[in-house]
Amino acid sequence: MSGDNQTSLRRQLIVRMLSMMLPLFILLWVIAYFSSQYFINAAFDRSLIRRTFALADRVEVMRGQVEVDLPVAARELLVFDQEDLLFHSIVNPAGRVIDGELDMPRLPDNQSIRPGQLIVYDGVKDGEKVRVAAFGLSLKGTSAHGTVLVQVGETLSHRSAMAGRATLAIVIPMLLMTLTAAIAIAYGVRKGLEPLSRQRDRLSARQAFDLSPVLLEGTPAELRPFLDEINSLLQRLSEAVESQSRFVADAAHQLRTPIAGIRAQAEAALSGARHDDAQHALARIAQSAQTMGDLVQKLLMLARVDAAENTLRLNRLDSADVVREVAREWVPPALAKGVEIGFDMQDSEAWVMGDAQLLREMLANLIDNALRYGGTRITLTVRRAGQSVVWQVADDGPGIPAAQRAAVFAPFHRMSGSVEGAGLGLTIVQRIAHLHDAKVSLEAGEGGAGLAVNVVFPAVPAPGPA
Ligand SMILES: Nc1ncnc2c1ncn2[C@@H]1O[C@H](COP(=O)(O)OP(=O)(O)O)[C@@H](O)[C@H]1O
Ligand SMILES: [Mg+2]
Repeated sequence: MSGDNQTSLRRQLIVRMLSMMLPLFILLWVIAYFSSQYFINAAFDRSLIRRTFALADRVEVMRGQVEVDLPVAARELLVFDQEDLLFHSIVNPAGRVIDGELDMPRLPDNQSIRPGQLIVYDGVKDGEKVRVAAFGLSLKGTSAHGTVLVQVGETLSHRSAMAGRATLAIVIPMLLMTLTAAIAIAYGVRKGLEPLSRQRDRLSARQAFDLSPVLLEGTPAELRPFLDEINSLLQRLSEAVESQSRFVADAAHQLRTPIAGIRAQAEAALSGARHDDAQHALARIAQSAQTMGDLVQKLLMLARVDAAENTLRLNRLDSADVVREVAREWVPPALAKGVEIGFDMQDSEAWVMGDAQLLREMLANLIDNALRYGGTRITLTVRRAGQSVVWQVADDGPGIPAAQRAAVFAPFHRMSGSVEGAGLGLTIVQRIAHLHDAKVSLEAGEGGAGLAVNVVFPAVPAPGPA
């Protein structure tokens, strides 16, 4: 089922999906990282500010002196954290650090704090990035003057660890989802294609001549058009096989009759005492042999035409040349039977694509019919009709009744009364026409008498000057 790597549907789907998911995944990662950082920063900043205010609460003025009352327990609470290093500093209006760190990162742009102002900023302390909140505590209303700068800072390790974890909390489920989808696709495609492998098993178990349609039941809709095509191919194939075997049976039957005749006549000749009887039987044998010879020749012709389908090379032909040449060949045998052949070239430009030899064979069959079944005159016509070129062989004989015109093209079909032929002539004509994209039609001859056979070719332009 895995099949060829390049054309495996499953592999293609998964590769496409993953290659689409990958950039999306990276984008999601980036968005998740920055947005979680933003929200975590905001939360951490708030707690930093809270600590700063709490520290500012501890600043007191005693007799004009700024002091800090920070018992150990409160100090622990304020400036202790499990992961981050916390530090603080309190600077009196005179600029002296009265509690905490001496080297606090400076306020941004070297500004000094105004009373009541709160600034949260990034800085560096001991070579590490830190975040600092600074508050200007006004001493108004006390016995001292000015503003006390209260600062609390912390390192960033807790924040970035949190941001990292928040990002993973978004990205990992997404990754799992993608993988699950890939697995689901792989599984789904395999399941979906199972009917196909069942079909394959059923097809490979078939006998060579089992051309019955493939069962559609249980196959996915996407495969239906494909299987329908296979079924229609099987249908055509089985029709072709059937008509082929019918043809073979008919041919065998047709051959059996003259052979039986020959045997019976030969036995009669052998047993007959009289010279005359033997002579008569031999004449019948010769006639049967002739019939058989004609039949075999026609069968071979038909086989040749069928085989030509694959090797056919069509050339640009001048209709008048081909028809005139064949007409000329048939004048002597026709005259011998008292039949006149006329050739009527109505348009000077009537080019067709064709195989000259096959087209001559086709005309020969039509003229032969006209001679056998027709009257005293045969007319060959070439003319153009729009985008078509029409070749016509017309006679003035009894013709074929309209109701029977379609049937005479079938192999071995002869109308009652005509005993000579094998019934393959018009079949050959039609197959040759088919090889040339031409259509054969039968109609009554001029004035309603006789038969006119039309072969309608697609016209092609005349060859340009060489
Ligand atoms: N020009 C024609 N006029 C009258 N009947 C014809 C003509 N051409 C063909 N037919 C009828 O059509 C039948 C089939 O013709 P064809 O296929 O050539 O077979 P065949 O000539 O071997 O009998 C003939 O048996 C004949 O009855
Ligand atoms: Mg014939």
